[in-house]
Amino acid sequence: MLHGKRILLIISGGIAAYKSLELVRRLRERGAAVRCVVTRGGAQFITPLSLAALSEDKVYTELFSLTDEAEMGHIQLSRDADLLLVAPATADLLAKMTHGQADDLASTVLLATDKDVMVAPAMNMRMWEHPATQDNLRTLQARGVRVVGPEEGDMACGEYGLGRLAEPDDIAAAVSDFFQTSAPLSGRHALVTSGPTHEPIDPVRYIANRSSGRQGHAIAAALARRGATTTLVSGPTNLPDPPGVNVVRVESARDILAACEAALPVDVAICAAAVADWRVARAANEKLKKNGGGPPKLEMAENPDILASLAAPANTRPGLVIGFAAETELVIENARAKREHKGCDWILANDVSPKTGTFGGEENTIHLVSAEGVEDWPRMSKTAVANRLADRVAEMQEILE
Ligand code: CTP
Repeated sequence: MLHGKRILLIISGGIAAYKSLELVRRLRERGAAVRCVVTRGGAQFITPLSLAALSEDKVYTELFSLTDEAEMGHIQLSRDADLLLVAPATADLLAKMTHGQADDLASTVLLATDKDVMVAPAMNMRMWEHPATQDNLRTLQARGVRVVGPEEGDMACGEYGLGRLAEPDDIAAAVSDFFQTSAPLSGRHALVTSGPTHEPIDPVRYIANRSSGRQGHAIAAALARRGATTTLVSGPTNLPDPPGVNVVRVESARDILAACEAALPVDVAICAAAVADWRVARAANEKLKKNGGGPPKLEMAENPDILASLAAPANTRPGLVIGFAAETELVIENARAKREHKGCDWILANDVSPKTGTFGGEENTIHLVSAEGVEDWPRMSKTAVANRLADRVAEMQEILE
């Protein structure tokens, strides 16, 4: 059930830490690879050696460890994982997670991750019931952190109440459920275009635009996280390759089209690239010189429209074709017209006039225009837009067929 999944198990310091040995076994029985991080407190209750033996992997304990950082930086620890599981999660570690404190390896990994996180709290019942802990938990849940347990029962401190770590079997089952529901696009193929294009003028100059590629890259990452086999065709950007995505790096509009055609067939195509509408008809083979004849006259030619070409009726037309409409006025009207004449299913319209800071910025305000009407989304980060879009795509299973 967990074959191929990599779990980073973070063990913080509570008496329940002894159950994490059992948890490693349960997760591995289900097919997961488990790598452990133990806090100083955790290591008071359980030895890294026994964890290393059961996980058959190195156990990580120190933030400032020269060998660990050389072999496996704390960023890499989370990059290599599909899920971060904190079990047991103490009240202290939950508080650190809530407030973004990063003063040891476990809390630093948890702050530096963009992966899904699940926590299995374990603590004294009064600590659990304290409004501080409950507030922290609500904040973490609102950020998408999943919570399993705690359970009611006898506690090590001699009291009875809510605060016991969930049973290892139940935690392993929650992890399996998480992967089942979090990969609604598994078996699907997705294609995303992203970034600006560079259209050559001569060997050293080009025409470009201010697109950062953030939105397209975030969409590819969100689709891949939901299990889709994802190809990202990207113009030149400074962004790292999103994890688990097959990235094809290209320069011009014509390159993007060729790379997209090579990626077909796919179930869903999302065109987020800011493709140049025109290119220089005949780019010079040698650098243009200013030799007294005045500025060069650049004759322009129209570029292929990748979105329209993917959306055109054909055997290879993806079930769902989605484009963006970057507008500076009459946003919805223009987006509706764009959807019609490009033949795509959905247009995500956004206002890119300079006052909005959208182009090249961190946030976006989207209006999803489809045959059914217009959905106005609140202003949100480009990552949140990507997640919402990927969730909407996953709802369209019958169209993706
Ligand atoms: N697009 C594309 N290929 C092009 C131009 C645009 O695939 N040659 C896609 C973009 O990725 C986006 C959508 O078409 O999904 C709309 O892009 P936009 O720049 O808003 O529209 P244009 O087609 O360029 O139209 P105009 O500049 O007239 O608004």
